[in-house]
Order: sequence, then structure tokens, then C-alpha cells
Amino acid sequence: MRFSVYKSTLVIALLGFVSFPSHAQKHVADTASIEQRISGLLAQMTLEEKVGQLTQYTGSQLTGPASIRKTTLLNSIREGTAGSVLNVKGVKDTREVQTVAMASRLKIPLLFGLDVIHGYKTVFPIPLAEAASWDLDAIRQAAHLAAREAAASGVHWTFAPMVDVARDPRWGRVMEGAGEDPYLGSQIARARVLGFQGEKLGGTDAVLACAKHFAAYGAAIAGRDYNAVDLSPQQLWEVYLPPFKAALDAGAATFMNSFNALNGVPATGNRYLQRDILKGKWNYQGFVVSDWGSIAEQVPWGYAKDKADAAQKAITAGSDMDMESDAYHNHLGELVKAGKVDIALVDDAVRRVLRKKFELGLFDDPYKFSNEKREKQVLNDPQSRVAARQMAEKSMVLLKNEKAVLPLSRQLHSVAVIGPLVRAKRDLDGSWSVASDTTLTVSLLEGLTRKVGSKTQLRYAKGCDVTGDSRAGFAQAVETAKNAEVVVLAVGETWNMSGEAKSRSDIHLPGVQEELFQALKATGKPIVVVVLGGRPLIFNAISDQADAILYGWWPGSEGGNALANVLYGDYNPAGKLPMSFPRAVGQIPIAYNQQYNTGRPITKPGDATYKSAYIDGANTPRFAFGHGLSYTTFKYSDLKLSRSQLTAAENVQVQLRLTNTGKVAGEEVVQLYLRDMVASVVRPLQELKDFKKVHLQAGESKAVAFTIDRDKLAFYNQQLEWGAEPGEFKLMIGSASNDIRLESKFELLP
Ligand code: NOJ
Repeated sequence: MRFSVYKSTLVIALLGFVSFPSHAQKHVADTASIEQRISGLLAQMTLEEKVGQLTQYTGSQLTGPASIRKTTLLNSIREGTAGSVLNVKGVKDTREVQTVAMASRLKIPLLFGLDVIHGYKTVFPIPLAEAASWDLDAIRQAAHLAAREAAASGVHWTFAPMVDVARDPRWGRVMEGAGEDPYLGSQIARARVLGFQGEKLGGTDAVLACAKHFAAYGAAIAGRDYNAVDLSPQQLWEVYLPPFKAALDAGAATFMNSFNALNGVPATGNRYLQRDILKGKWNYQGFVVSDWGSIAEQVPWGYAKDKADAAQKAITAGSDMDMESDAYHNHLGELVKAGKVDIALVDDAVRRVLRKKFELGLFDDPYKFSNEKREKQVLNDPQSRVAARQMAEKSMVLLKNEKAVLPLSRQLHSVAVIGPLVRAKRDLDGSWSVASDTTLTVSLLEGLTRKVGSKTQLRYAKGCDVTGDSRAGFAQAVETAKNAEVVVLAVGETWNMSGEAKSRSDIHLPGVQEELFQALKATGKPIVVVVLGGRPLIFNAISDQADAILYGWWPGSEGGNALANVLYGDYNPAGKLPMSFPRAVGQIPIAYNQQYNTGRPITKPGDATYKSAYIDGANTPRFAFGHGLSYTTFKYSDLKLSRSQLTAAENVQVQLRLTNTGKVAGEEVVQLYLRDMVASVVRPLQELKDFKKVHLQAGESKAVAFTIDRDKLAFYNQQLEWGAEPGEFKLMIGSASNDIRLESKFELLP
């Protein structure tokens, strides 16, 4: 049997060989010729030109009025001593700057990089929101459309995806990633890289991706940005590295290192991370860019005595390109001449950078991404707006819905739309919107106005600001509520409250927004709360007393339309939380997969005496990882396992039936969790190992299947070896990590 499969594969391969050059062969030929061309170029380069390829500057002042132009930087580009620029965008500007590079001695084109994090002109929901969709195809498509717009605008390279696992909602950058789970995070990392890069590098609808921030940046102590990280090797390998490996396997062209020190060594000067793991064990062929100024930051960290020392440490550790430190530009040449840095390290780094420029096709046409007609067409393509709206709908999480107050009825005569974010546009785009036209963003009020028919009157009142303590608008808001049948209250964070350098020590809903809620609640009207923000927030009064809560995150350009569609039931919400929402700041970190049974678990509800518990609150989150409601209901039944015992070579096939027991069509994310009951390193109570998003018509029922292989049972033992240990495993399948509907167990035999 084996032989015949092998034989037929061989025949097919041979046929391919004889009849036409295969894709793989062409790739091998292209690669060989690229390597030859790089060698030819390297042989002609001076040391200064080589260092130039490893130098990146911000170029926001390279174009525009002559008076503010950075002429020294333009001169560097002309002299071939800058290889890449960030923050220059648009066909006109990128072309202008590229023309300067093309006047350099060797005519090596520049690489234009930009933070295209969630869309370009068309703003998609923030990455954490997209992660809540658990919809890998949609996430891939969102990245593709962002890349298409950016590439049409002269950009070659995005500093995305951020694949840092983020388990601390105080850290503002949770908004840029996929949340707290390494499995979901890895799937999404892969989807985003494939989306940004397209079929093959070099397409004019694709950009280079950059997996960042290598590594463990998301584990910053106390959730404070740029802080140190202290991690066990098991946590590093099991939780923080897998999404990077997934990005690499999906072909991520570049990596960015990070601002944090990991176990005492700044990531930029970290040889273990960059040389041993990334370029060694993982055999990575792309290049590593530093984070902004992170080479120089090794000095204040107390890891390098000056910038020259920092440059030496960074290049030795495997950082190929210097973003904005000026450390390579000023010191790398002299370090090589003094024999402190081997030229082979520099050559290898240059080779890696040039390889990407060749793969993009820039040596054949440096203006390949500079087509004004295409720019105009692509940036105004309505297809992107449709996709942005759909992505926003998929991202929204229905946290609560009592007495089916949602969806809203079109028969309502009056709806009060209250809150500081009702008319917001910039705040819907969120942080990291680098090329958006905010005037085109649809606010919640605009979305609702388009949605409701002539029967319904919308009455608006602001109530209060997002921050500050003024209650001056409360009275009018209460009056407005009294005159309506239902209240929709939109609260949350402004666009600049989550993101880089936006850590918060208190993640309660800011200002007096929750007080406004309570004033409105006192009217006795049903209240639907829409929360807009870049991170999990704490809002206990709302969680306890609101009739419905829709978590809309920062939903992007089409936010208002998407919110209106969900509120009125034209889209049935299916989002599930990719991060746990705490009840209190003091519970953090509260990621679901950081929970252990401990030696003192709470066994009797309410009895926490001498147990691993708080004396002033619950252990459980307010809203759990994986939680998210729908306008319909789902029944889980008929769980079947193909075997209850398996040997090392066997898999377990898992089958169940999912039925839509409600009145409308909907989607459910079926989540599969495992617990290894006894192991040589204690295991968390739950680890997500698989999921399926299933669409069902009302009353429809479908079989859902999973395969559990050895890899899903494996972990890193005390010797840091990856493997599965014999023994019992608990299987949990459900609608959320705290809403397990089916349970079973199986045993891995010795
Ligand atoms: C610093 C951020 O940490 C990084 O993610 C970003 O890509 C660079 N700045 C460039 O803007």
C-alpha cells in the first residue's frame, strides 16, 4: 500500500518534470539566480554601503516643503548609506524618495516600511477585535486587503502582524495582537502572514510581513510597556514562541525584535533568541529589524556601555537592521575595521536584506509599487469597505443579553442613543490608524440613522466625556432616556488610551461613564451598552445591571454600520473573547490557561479558607476566554471518541453533534480544551487545542469532528524536551472556557 502511494506520487512528479517546468523548479531557479545576483552586488559594495543596507530611518520629513526636508537624510540615501525608510507613504512621496536612492552609486532600491496594523485607508477592526472572530479566512482576507491598499500606495513592508501573546490587559498593546492563547494566536499569526504576503512575494497586491516583537514582549512585568520580562523556559517555549514559529512557517519575510529584556538580556542583544533559536534551530532566512531605537536602548538598560558597544552586541546577537538608533551607521564600520565584528556577520545581514529587495522585484523595477492609477483605484475600491464591515460584525462579542432585549425591534418608536462615543469617528478607527481618512468613518449614530426606518426616532445625548469627572450632561441624558423605549449607551476608551506606551494601572471604564450608566438605569428603561475600546475593561456595575452588553472594540471605518447591523439583528453576533476579562485589577494575570488546580483548590463553592483564593473576591474572570453569545442557542450532543486508549502512533477522532435550537441562523465556535491530569510538569486546568466555527440554519444540526494527535498532548518537560507523557487526559468541548457542554477522557498508553 505504502509503495503504491509512493509510486503514484513519483509518477505525477516525473510527469510534471517532463512536460513543463514545475512551480517548485522555477522557485529553485529564481532563488539560485537571486543568490548569484546578491553575491555579485556584495562584491562591489564598500563597507559603508553595506552598513547602509542595515540602516533604517524614519522619513516623515523627506518630502513636502523644502524648508522642513531632512537634507542630511536625503544625502545619506543618495550616498547609499541608508537601506530602508519608514513612515513614507503614497505613490508620489515614495517615488520621489526612491528616485534619490536610484541616483546612488549602486542603485540599490530603498525598502519602504510602515505600521499597517489593521487596514490602511480602509480601517479594519483592531487585531484583538479580529481575533474575537475566530474566523481565519476573514482575518487573512482583512490582512490581504490592507496589504493591497498599502502596496498600491508605494509601501513594501508592514510591521505586522504583532504575534505577541498578551495576557495582561493593563498592557496597552494587547490591542495589536490575538490575545492570550498560543494556539489561537498561532493560527491567526499564520492567517495574517499569508494575507499580507499573498501567494508569493513580489505581487503588487502584497507586502512583506514582519512578525513582531521577538520575543516575549507581551509578558512585560506588571503590564507596563517596555518593561523587563521574567519567564520560565517552559512558558517561553509553550506560550510565547509558538505564534512566531507559525508566522515563520507561513513564510514571514521579516522579524522585529523587541524592547524588553528577557530573563536579563535585552531582546535586541539576545543571542539565544535571534541566533540560537530563530536563525539556528528554526533556520530562518529572512532578516531581523530592531525595534525603534532598541539597539541604543541597550545602554540605558545597563547592558551596553555605549552605542558602539550596543551596535556590537546587536549585530553579534543577530539583529540585522538598525531602526532609528544610528548605532550601525555610526559604529559598525569602525567595529569591523577594529576587528571587533567579523565582516562575515555584516555580509550575512546585508545578504538577508538584499534578498528581500530582490524577492520583491525592486531591482528589476524600483517603482513597481508606484502607480498612481492603481493607487487611486485600489484606495477607492468599495470591496474593502464591505470586507471591513463584515470583519467588524464578526469581531463583535455579545457579552450579555437578558430577556432578549437584543436584537432591537424596528417597531420601536423611540430609541435614546447616549454616551460620549455615540458620534465618535476617530475613536472607532482606534490606535495605529496610519493612513485613514477619519471623515469617512461611520459613527454609531450615523450607522443607526441609516438603519432605522421612519417609525423610529433616535434621540441623542452625550451625557459625559470618556475621561474627566463632569456630570453636567447627566440630567439631559436622563431626560432623553425617559422619553425613549430603549436606551443604547456607547461608552469605552478614546483611540489613544490603548496601544503603544498606553499601559494603564487601572482598567476600569474611565471617567464617570459607569455613573452615567447608573443614572440611566434609575429610569427603569431597558439599557443596551455598547463598549468600545482597545483592551478588556472592567465595568462591574454595567455587567451586573445592563440588559445587554455588546463589546464592539475599536471596529474601524465601517464600525457604525456594523454595530447597527448587530444591534438590529441583521447580523447575528458570533464573536468569542480572545482574552479573559477580569473583575478586578488585582486578579491580573487571569488568563484562562494560567490557571492551575494548585495543591489547595477551592472544592466547596464559597469556602475559600486556606485555599488558593482571594479573601475579597472571586478567582473567576468577569467574562471568560471564549465567551460570546448569539441571538440563537446551540445544543451540543452525541460526543463520541474513536478510542479511549491510544498508543504513541495513534490519534483520537472526536465527533459530536451541534444543533441550532433557536429561531434564527447563527454561528458557533466549538472549542476543544484538554487537561493532562498528571505530568512531570504540572499542566493548566484547560488548554485550547482546536476549534471549529460552524454555521447553522435555525433547527439545523451538523456533525463536528476533531482529531487529537500526539502534538496536541505534548508539552516541554523539565529538560525542555517536547513530548507527550502517558496517562489520562480530560477532554472538554464547549461554547466558552467556562461553558463546557461535553466532557470525556482518554488515556495515552506507555
Ligand atoms: C515601535 C513599535 O514598538 C513597533 O511595533 C513599530 O513597528 C515601530 N515603533 C515603528 O513604528
